[in-house]
Amino acid sequence: MTRISLKVDGASCSDDVEPRMLLVHYLRERLGKTGTVIGCDTSNCGACTVHLDGKSVKSCNVLAVQADGHEVTTIEGLAQDGELHPVQKAFHDCHALQCGFCTPGMIMQSVDLLNENANPSEEEIRLGLEGNLCRCTGYHNIVKAVQAAASEGAGASA
Ligand code: FES
Ligand code: FES
Repeated sequence: MTRISLKVDGASCSDDVEPRMLLVHYLRERLGKTGTVIGCDTSNCGACTVHLDGKSVKSCNVLAVQADGHEVTTIEGLAQDGELHPVQKAFHDCHALQCGFCTPGMIMQSVDLLNENANPSEEEIRLGLEGNLCRCTGYHNIVKAVQAAASEGAGASA
């Protein structure tokens, strides 16, 4: 076992974990952060995307021990003071989901995308989300939601 200490959604955590434990399993099984989901076992789908020190990562591709000393934000830590993050609100307003399984990862990736580029073109949005798969929507409304969030200044405020 290895002792890790990190911040998750603003709260400090310390735990003993097996060195092979994936960050996504730590978040879901130890911390109960089931908003972060597992959609594949090949690192393809992006459903498990979280932020590690503000940058998006696929949490099935990171060991929990690699997050030691770092800050993790999940979909559950995005809303502030009961207010949805502008990207969450845009996904809701633009109907950018159907089953919703891809949505936590899609939103976390979109926030990172807008942090990097506050006014992306449609092509840049599609490129920025290429690591996140959606089986339902055809992506059209997801792109519209990111554009709507950008026009609300989500990149600047995130
Ligand atoms: S669960 Fe599919 S990329 Fe992580
Ligand atoms: S909304 Fe169902 S996978 Fe994207």
